[in-house]
Amino acid sequence: MSLSSADKRPRSGRPEPGEYADYAAADIAAVPGDDAVEALARLEHETRTAFRSLVDTAESGFAYAPGKWTVKQVLGHLVDDERIFAYRLLCVARGEDAELPGFDENRYVAHSEFEGRRLEDILAEYGVVRAATLGLLRGLPPSAWLRRGRVNGYECSVRGLAFHIAGHELHHLRVLRERYRPPSRATAARLDEEQDPIALFREWRREATALGAPSLAGATCLSTVEADGTPHARFVDLKEVRDDGFAFCTSHASPKAAHIEANPRVALTFWWDHVKRQVRVSGRATRITEAEADAFFRRRGREAQLASWAFEQSALLPGDVSLADRLNTVHERFGSGEVPRPPHWGGYVVAPDRIEFLNFEASRAHGRVLYERHHGRWTVSELQP
Ligand SMILES: Cc1cc2nc3c(=O)[nH]c(=O)nc-3n(C[C@H](O)[C@H](O)[C@H](O)COP(=O)(O)O)c2cc1C
Repeated sequence: MSLSSADKRPRSGRPEPGEYADYAAADIAAVPGDDAVEALARLEHETRTAFRSLVDTAESGFAYAPGKWTVKQVLGHLVDDERIFAYRLLCVARGEDAELPGFDENRYVAHSEFEGRRLEDILAEYGVVRAATLGLLRGLPPSAWLRRGRVNGYECSVRGLAFHIAGHELHHLRVLRERYRPPSRATAARLDEEQDPIALFREWRREATALGAPSLAGATCLSTVEADGTPHARFVDLKEVRDDGFAFCTSHASPKAAHIEANPRVALTFWWDHVKRQVRVSGRATRITEAEADAFFRRRGREAQLASWAFEQSALLPGDVSLADRLNTVHERFGSGEVPRPPHWGGYVVAPDRIEFLNFEASRAHGRVLYERHHGRWTVSELQP
């Protein structure tokens, strides 16, 4: 079911402590927003993407430790759990005053034989169950959200139970990212002289993007050094990973561009929090060609194109002109016509001579692999955490 701006239901509101089991508090705190229907509808896409990205791991029957569930068992458990919570929610919403029983999740998984099914098949069942849950929630009378009942020793509200489903799902997605990510070549074959580190970077970026990446997964911290030795760091958006390096776009009239023109040695640092990975790149930045800059500029949204004309990046904003005034001026100038690339707008490609990959471990025994390029050849070594 899709979200629609025409959805005029009253929002459920966020449950308060006392409306759900204590043990679920941290998971429920991680659910964004104040509406159970919206949270569950949005989560469906994230969950499908996360499980699909692990299809090979799922079909191989991998579990990260003896006795832990496999990927298919985790997904099957989510489906079972949602059915049970939706049933509890229905009962409480309809005024049930008997206490509802608990269930032993390990026993349910043991009797499920999820391993004998295909991941896609379980995902299809997940979709049907989610649609049924959303149908139930959308049809509830507004007065039902705060109704309370007793479930397995806890007092719960209807919205508390709905947020519980979302929080529980987010909890398992987090474990999936941290524990079930496919062993990439940097960890499986740590010191691989044959590995091209740019190909490995692409693999890590693909994994980070597939596993429910943040909206700005391309954000990278660019460090430059000013002529007097002062370091400066700020985020830019990685536009492309090419065989010759990492491309980003900016204003050639900006301070960062001035630093690079004086000293082309720069560093890029990536941190993908949701998969706990860092990549550090250092190398030499050179300007991309005019034709490449044109191509990147055409990919920008119209608002961003107009902003490139409206603002002098990092210049002081005079007190008598607002950002909106400046934008209005360029809106009037270009009307609805095509916005050409401003002459000062371009970018750089960073040709790496050092790329370090770090898998963050809660134990602090991080896996670190460093690739260095000497005379056109990459060598690889392992670093202590
Ligand atoms: C997530 C994120 C992405 C950004 N992407 C870019 C970018 O691609 N290009 C850019 O020039 N500035 C980008 N910025 C703004 C820069 O961080 C910075 O404020 C601006 O480029 C001025 O930097 P300078 O004064 O060091 O030149 C981004 C900021 C954030 C937070």
